[in-house]
Amino acid sequence: MDTDRIRNDFPVLQRIIKNKPLRYMDSACMSLKPRQVIDAVVEYYENFPACAGRSVHRLSHEVEEARRKAREDIKEFIGAKKLEEVVYTRNTTEGLNLVTNSLQVNQGDVVLTTDREHNSSLVTCQLLAARKKVEHRIVKSNPDSTFNIEAFKDALTPKVRLVSFVWTSNLDGYSLPAKEIIEVAHDNGSLVLLDAAQTAPHHEIDVAKLGVDFLAFSGHKMLGPTGTGVVYIKEEHYDVLDPFIVGGETVEWSTFQDHKFLDPPEKYEAGLQNYAGEIGLAAAIRYLKSIGLKKVEKHEQELNQLVHNGFSQINGVTIIGIRDPRLRGGITSFNIEGVMYHDVALIMNRNYNLMLRSGQHCVHSWFNASGIEGSVRASLYLYNTRDEVETLIEAAEEISKLD
Ligand code: ALA
Repeated sequence: MDTDRIRNDFPVLQRIIKNKPLRYMDSACMSLKPRQVIDAVVEYYENFPACAGRSVHRLSHEVEEARRKAREDIKEFIGAKKLEEVVYTRNTTEGLNLVTNSLQVNQGDVVLTTDREHNSSLVTCQLLAARKKVEHRIVKSNPDSTFNIEAFKDALTPKVRLVSFVWTSNLDGYSLPAKEIIEVAHDNGSLVLLDAAQTAPHHEIDVAKLGVDFLAFSGHKMLGPTGTGVVYIKEEHYDVLDPFIVGGETVEWSTFQDHKFLDPPEKYEAGLQNYAGEIGLAAAIRYLKSIGLKKVEKHEQELNQLVHNGFSQINGVTIIGIRDPRLRGGITSFNIEGVMYHDVALIMNRNYNLMLRSGQHCVHSWFNASGIEGSVRASLYLYNTRDEVETLIEAAEEISKLD
């Protein structure tokens, strides 16, 4: 992969801070944005900054058309069968909330999650359980942090209405065996919602082949603008998914007594939408496709193997979660003995311009259950280089020697 050429597309990577290049390793939180995405957003604001679908004038038609094309790009990207199955959201969190809160459930039904869910899924399921008298059941991982398929099968009783699993963990980059999970869940008559926030930026997705019922992801982690996301809703589930937020754009007509909703996707897209963001997200998808997600994934894994090899040589560095780098995509969560994780991140930022996330990464439940206070997390993407990884290893080694 031509990393130099790729890096030239990212204006922020041209910045020099204190005579050093910027070394960004926080892409699991937020990816950087290439010029092509920035230009697409600017194009909306400069050329057709109007409302879509409401007015009959030229600018309204232009934004409507740009939006439709963007939805087409997203549909192709995830392998959906129909445009209507692609629903715009602000982020993965909103997509997970939409499905979990809108799905028709009966008292006594069960919602299943894993023990490594992001708060966006975990807390949503906890609230669902409390509000609708649904049981929230958690499938525990194996002792080595891999997915426990037997525990999943045991938990999958006839009352399980929804299996809401994180596909790729933001904690350690581990991906669950989604296809197998979906097949087993469907054999049980359960629906499956996948949190693909950390999958979509790195891994090819084909929702039709997977057979998944619902799948949520964000634009901002895959080179797209902030405040963008998508939830895929399989067409056959429209009738079991009530509207979530209602209002403008979701309604075909209303009287003082009644209303009629529009068909999906509008039924689930209330209020004025983030047109610039949608168009920017489509530009991000085109950018990723032009490079090829397989290449992106391979590049990250090669770099992550180097991180692993380097960290393995340093006394006092412990890798958190899954140990095998081949299973961790582009993420390594770690701690350095004797130095608090926030301090590690601060020193890396101050001395090396290395930008990593530290803390519990919105997976507080996993840390609380594991008795680990937190970690530092390096999350790599297509623009990271071997040189940057070497700097990371050097920084970790120096920090490990601090008194
Ligand atoms: N879930 C995002 C992260 O892992 C915010 O950083």
